[in-house]
Amino acid sequence: MNATRLSWRVLSGVTAMALALSASPGFAANEAEVAEHLIDLVKIGRSVMSEQMANINDASKADKGFTGDYMAAQVIERFKKKTKIDLRIPNAVPQSGLYLALVEAEKDVVDEAQPIINRAGIGFKGFIPAVFARKTGEHFFKKTGVKLKLTGIDYRNVNNRPDDFEAEVLRMFNDPRHPKGQTYVRNTMLDGKPVLRMMDPEYAGASCLNCHGTPKGEKDVTGGRKEGWKEGDLAGAISVVLPLK
Ligand code: HEC
Repeated sequence: MNATRLSWRVLSGVTAMALALSASPGFAANEAEVAEHLIDLVKIGRSVMSEQMANINDASKADKGFTGDYMAAQVIERFKKKTKIDLRIPNAVPQSGLYLALVEAEKDVVDEAQPIINRAGIGFKGFIPAVFARKTGEHFFKKTGVKLKLTGIDYRNVNNRPDDFEAEVLRMFNDPRHPKGQTYVRNTMLDGKPVLRMMDPEYAGASCLNCHGTPKGEKDVTGGRKEGWKEGDLAGAISVVLPLK
């Protein structure tokens, strides 16, 4: 990468965003905010998924009542609570269309999973938050050309494999000197076009360790091999690539 052409800042929240705006010429805080909102929207959808896991994996009933419309309504409601942006109001913000495309991707993924979700007589179905996030990212990219993905150093799904940029930032996140939770954002080039890239680190919580914990290499409920993470370890990151005008 050509360092002289890049202006970058490590951001954490609104204060740093304002700092970046004033300190970094050519860096549109506005676009960083858009990337942050996209990350918010996918995180909200994933937490709705987490809440639904027991319901989805309930072998005793068929219809779970967990539909794409439910997902979309929850995402819009919680996004409004977090950001004060009401996506029900037409053109509430200039990026409403982009945000709604992501809500629609989340809705579509849950709608497509209905046959799995509503299958009776089966407990664990494999429709988990990480799968939801990956499929949402794939749908969203098709709709908008904006890349959004969950990635990690020791990834399980090849579609979550970090590219060179992501691998470098993940290594930085994994360095104990990196302040925990601090987002990384940079204006750079991808395939000859200017983009804003943002990565938001994620850490292993207790609920992740059934699948990603110890003993390393043991099979988890999904049939995958546990990574050996401990609580607080870097799990990965949400990565956004936003084309710039
Ligand atoms: C039920 C088992 C299970 C639980 C619980 C779980 N994961 Fe995963 N995780 C998976 C599977 C399976 C994948 C691969 C999903 C796919 O197909 O994209 C994955 C993928 C990921 C990825 C993307 C990189 C990769 O490995 O492909 C990250 C990051 C991740 N998980 C973090 C977490 C975190 C953080 C938690 C807790 C909040 C968590 N996971 C809870 C099973 C689980």
